This record gives sequence, C-alpha cells and structure tokens, in this order.
Amino acid sequence: MMHLSTVLLLALSTRAAVIPSRRSLNQRQASPKLVVAHHIVGNTFTYTPQDWTDDMNLASASGIDGFALNIGPDDFQVTQTQNAFQAADALGGNFKLFFSLDMSVLPCATADDGAALRQRVLDFATRPSHLQVNGKAFVSTFAGESCTFGEASVPDGWRNQFTQHPDLQGKIQFVPSFFIDPATFTDFSGVMDGAFNFNSGWPIQVTVDFADGIANDLAGTGDSLTNTLNQFIGANATDLQQIGDLANLAAGGSRLTYMAAVAPHFFTHFGADSFNKNFIFLADQHLLVQRWETLIALRDQVDIVEIVTWNDYGESHYVGPIKGVLPPGSEPWVNGFPHQDWLDLTRYFATAFKTGTTPTIDKDQIIMWARPHPALASSPDPLSPPTTFQITQDNIWAVVMATAAGTATLTDGISPPQTFDVVPGVNKLAIPIAPGGTLSGTLERNGQTVVSLQTPGSDFTFNGAPALFNYNVFVASATSA
Ligand SMILES: *[C@@H]1O[C@H](CO)[C@@H](O)[C@H](O)[C@H]1NC(C)=O
Repeated sequence: MMHLSTVLLLALSTRAAVIPSRRSLNQRQASPKLVVAHHIVGNTFTYTPQDWTDDMNLASASGIDGFALNIGPDDFQVTQTQNAFQAADALGGNFKLFFSLDMSVLPCATADDGAALRQRVLDFATRPSHLQVNGKAFVSTFAGESCTFGEASVPDGWRNQFTQHPDLQGKIQFVPSFFIDPATFTDFSGVMDGAFNFNSGWPIQVTVDFADGIANDLAGTGDSLTNTLNQFIGANATDLQQIGDLANLAAGGSRLTYMAAVAPHFFTHFGADSFNKNFIFLADQHLLVQRWETLIALRDQVDIVEIVTWNDYGESHYVGPIKGVLPPGSEPWVNGFPHQDWLDLTRYFATAFKTGTTPTIDKDQIIMWARPHPALASSPDPLSPPTTFQITQDNIWAVVMATAAGTATLTDGISPPQTFDVVPGVNKLAIPIAPGGTLSGTLERNGQTVVSLQTPGSDFTFNGAPALFNYNVFVASATSA
C-alpha cells in the first residue's frame, strides 16, 4: 500500500515544478488570449448555414471567440466546413474557426494522406474568419501521435509531410493534442508550435483503484475521501507539466502556444456493437467551475482555453444546444438532458480569463445540475454501468451567481431544505439527492425571494430504478427579473 503523500506526489509529478523560461513566458503573454469551443462537425449532417450562424451567435454571446472544427473523413464534413466558413465570414470574420484534425479517424499512414491533409488546411487557411496566431493559420488536432505519413518516424512524418512541407512551411501555427509524454515534446521540434492539453479538462487519473488507494491511506485519519479527491478536480498539474516541457521545446526561439481544456462533464455508454466505450471521468464538485478558476489563476501562462465541447453528445460534455444528428445510440442519455445553462457560467469565466478582471454580475442566477439516478442503482440495461461509476456522488450541484450577499435554500423535495449564506460573486453549493428528488433552489435577500428555480418532475426526477444507465446530467437555471 502506497502512502498518501507518495500517491499525491506521483500524481502531481515533480516535473510540474519546472518554471518556464522568462522568454517563453513573455512570448506567451504577447499572444492573444482566446476562448474557443470544440465543435464536432461529424454531428452536423443536417445543419443549414443558418444553424451555423445560430451556433456562432450563441457562442459569441457566451464569451466564446471561435470553434475548433473537429473533422473526420466523411464528404459531408467538407460541405459542412464550407457552410461553417461561409457563416463565419458573413458575420464579419470576428468569430474565428480552425481545424481540430481528428487523427483518430483521418488516415495518416502514407504520403498521399499527408497531401490530402495539407490540402484540407490550405482550402480554408486564408479565409477571413480563419484563426491566425503569430500571423499564421492556427491548426490543431485530436490525437495524431501514431501518424507517420509513410516516413520513418512520427516526428519525421509530421515534419516532412505536414508542417515543413513546402505547401505549408511558414504558413501554420500547429498546436496538436498528441497523447504523448510531454517530456518528449522536444522530439517534435519543427512540428509543434505549441500543445493542446485535451485531457486537462478532467481528473482522468482518478479511477476506482486510485480512489481506493486514497481511501486506504485515509483510514483512521478522519479525512474524507471526497475532500481528498477534490484536490484533483480542476487541478493544474498537467498544465504546469506541459507548460514546462513546452519551454524546453521553445529553446529554438519559436513562439509557442499553450492551449488548455475546460470540460463540464464526461459520460459515454456505447456497447461493443457500436463505438465500444463505456466510462465516466469524475466531474463532481463543480468541475466546470473549479477548472475555470484554476485557469484564471494560471492565465499568464495559458494562451487559449478550448471548451470540450460545444456538441459532443456521445460523451456528454456538450455546452451548446442539442441539435444536428446525435451519434446513433446516444439518444437515451442526451435527449431531455439540456446543458445550455452552463453557457452563462461560460460567459462569466471566459470574460474573467480573457480580461483578467472578474465581470460584474448584473442579475442573480441559480444554476443546478444532477444525474438522473443513484450511482449505485441497478438497471435492466443490457450494458454494464460505465467504468468508474462507483466514485461519483449522489448530489445536486448548484452555483449561485449573486449580485450581493443573500441566503440560498436548496432541496431535492425529499429531504428537508438546506440553507447557505452566499457572498457576492460565484458560490458553489451542493446537497444530496435521493430517489424521487427534483431540483429546487431559491435565493432570498432582505426577506424577499429574488430567484426561484423549480424543476417539475415531468422534466427531471432522480429515479431509483432506471431502465437504462445514464450518468449524464440535467442542467437547469433561473435568473432574477
Ligand atoms: C497550482 O495549483 C496549486 C494547488 O491549487 C496552487 O497552490 C498553485 O498556486 C497553482 N499554480 C499556479 C502557477 O497557478
């Protein structure tokens, strides 16, 4: 059995302490601070140009500066990319687009694959709405750490067939999310102009075994497991690690971009007969808010925050509206589970990240969310519950955005209401939820109710006996008049 401090040390990694060189820090501070959202073009088969315009207007009103277009190989995704650029250009070019090349599905084994990828980038790189960083078209990826494009090694493949190929050389700022040990970033000199830390949105190391190890270490100490796990939620350890390793890569004098991720949730439940992925990442304890708070504290070293995601319904981390085409099989855990009220939190935190100043809250607001059944519920679902389901708490998570001090009262309608003093600003609150529970919360000030959120059971009920496993969340909100 490992001692707790060893576990923590291993998880946080001593390399996290590496301080980037002064030069690379200054370089980072010189670049624009942006917030973008990951948009899965694969879910837009039915989109009209107006759908793109609507998404961009909603995102823009929520403090989001652009979309990272996650694209795969389907022909319709080329058509939808054209629609997206047409819509963004028509908005005047202030809302930015760039590719997140999905290398988990795009072919990358041959030189021809490299040529096709270069062409895809070049087709849009000079459009008015294409994001430019350091005067070059910004290009990102999901994965790509196995691509060789027919060359002897992965770095050679990317270098010779992509970033340094005469077609693209000097034209792109390439910031991939390779799933590699960041200590090997230096192998990608001439390839990486920065790093996108895709998994930084979730405490992915917190598995059941990890939690069990901590619980063992805590036995008899009186410390609670949830409090101890909480220090991994939204944490900055992998940011500091990648920022430090980017500083080593920057030795050549190039201006590097660090792009961090923010995510609100994660649940996917596809059987072996479809996408074959069935797991959660822990998103308790207001992950979305804690992660933003971490990145705002670290803002001097973070150039871009990418919200993961706008519309990845299959993994339950969407903040945009439910529209387009859901991945087949995800309907039961997505339909009826809106997340859009998280966009109000997004606007607040994105503004704080970009400006360095906490925005004024003009209206009192309560945002509440919960999963639809107990973590340990049984279900006749033919597919087993998702990996890591045991460690998520049966709570209602609430955020009160308060214009001034007041008293919040929360209840699931089953247990007696609990009251909390709230301070001006963002307040993170939680109460347990029991079967039959719904979401209700009020904010009172000077004896008056200023906000009241009541979710009728027809919209959401915490179900003790679910027909199918669903670890997605229902999000609701209410705002003062
Ligand atoms: C990283 O997180 C730790 C723990 O919350 C905090 O003490 C530290 O100041 C953070 N580092 C930076 C550079 O923000």
